Amino acid sequence: MPTTVRTRVAVVGAGPAGLVLSQLLADAGIESIVVDSRSRSEIESTIRAGILEQNTVDLLRAIDPGTRVDTVGHRHDGIELRFGDEAHRIDFPALVGRSVWLYPQHEVLKDLLALRLGAGQDLRFGVTVAGVDEGDPEHPAVVGTDAQGEAVRIEADFVVGADGSRSAVRATVTGSRSGGYFREYPFAWFGILCEAPPSAQELIYSNSEQGFALISQRSPEVQRMYFQCDPDADATAPSEAEIWDTLQARVPGTTLHEGRIIQRDVLRFRSFVAHELRRGRVALVGDAAHTVPPTGAKGMNLAIADVVLLAEALRALLAEGARDERLIDSYAERALDRIWKAQHFSWWMTSMLHVAPDATDFDRRRQLGELRSVVESEAGRTYLAEAYTGWPARA
Ligand code: PHB
Repeated sequence: MPTTVRTRVAVVGAGPAGLVLSQLLADAGIESIVVDSRSRSEIESTIRAGILEQNTVDLLRAIDPGTRVDTVGHRHDGIELRFGDEAHRIDFPALVGRSVWLYPQHEVLKDLLALRLGAGQDLRFGVTVAGVDEGDPEHPAVVGTDAQGEAVRIEADFVVGADGSRSAVRATVTGSRSGGYFREYPFAWFGILCEAPPSAQELIYSNSEQGFALISQRSPEVQRMYFQCDPDADATAPSEAEIWDTLQARVPGTTLHEGRIIQRDVLRFRSFVAHELRRGRVALVGDAAHTVPPTGAKGMNLAIADVVLLAEALRALLAEGARDERLIDSYAERALDRIWKAQHFSWWMTSMLHVAPDATDFDRRRQLGELRSVVESEAGRTYLAEAYTGWPARA
């Protein structure tokens, strides 16, 4: 017999979405249990994305007095688009009065784990979820095994899948593990972390004849950079010298500060939106619901935006004396509004900046025409700035 526990909301996944949700629920007086298959140290050390939108930062500041977004993180007021031999800065505050912050996801997670554990959150690591038992549709149960390998059953009034792109909860909502709209891309990113001073103060997104490169930062001592590669590339294959030659050739006009490469990985690209985001008393948020290619820096921000809507809906449904189903009934529709805009933006940035392996001369010249139409037009730059810094929440 499994050990059975009861809670109001069972949250699968202790990433940014699951942890922010547990905080917003606690603020509304709604108890939750959060489980994750990983250990705390794995969660705190996995290198992921780095850009937070203005909305995300405003929320972190509001919920977490200990957030280090302003001390460890850095505000970025623009990005540079580079193509041909031109460099164009997109000035976010001048165009839209907003900014973004470079603050790595694993640092956000350290803050949020400390916040939730400090507040006494029931947060269980090493729990492998097998699925959701909907025998009683009003009380779905998360079933799986705990860190000791014992069967565990968490009965709740609502279950949330915040468990990433390989979600174990998704099948309950969509009817299959993969059910969704998706597209793949004929390229990937080769990412490195290196020990070197920054090569630029802001991010450089470069479309070069040899393919795309992104120069990002992490801290005064560690930098993150990427270059477009084949999706089947072997991350261990190139030498450090070859990696630097590839990167350097793709950002003409900037001399990169080279240093020891301390991590390398190949990130495959995918755009995905689940066919359904909610069924009955089970809902999906973040990468469990959708995936975007990293070029638009939208992943974590979109997850947090879902959570804000879902928390509001769960408050209406579950808070003392509530039981209002209207917001949960419209959760998917409201979340999808932003999700598809972010899908478009991420696809657009990706298509505009990468060189497809089968690109013809026409495709190449058209792409440079597209880049020029964006940077030479205030409307074009404003659209990019608006989407990159994040659309304000709907009133
Ligand atoms: C990163 O710093 O890891 C990063 C920044 C911007 C992106 C993607 C990744 O668009």
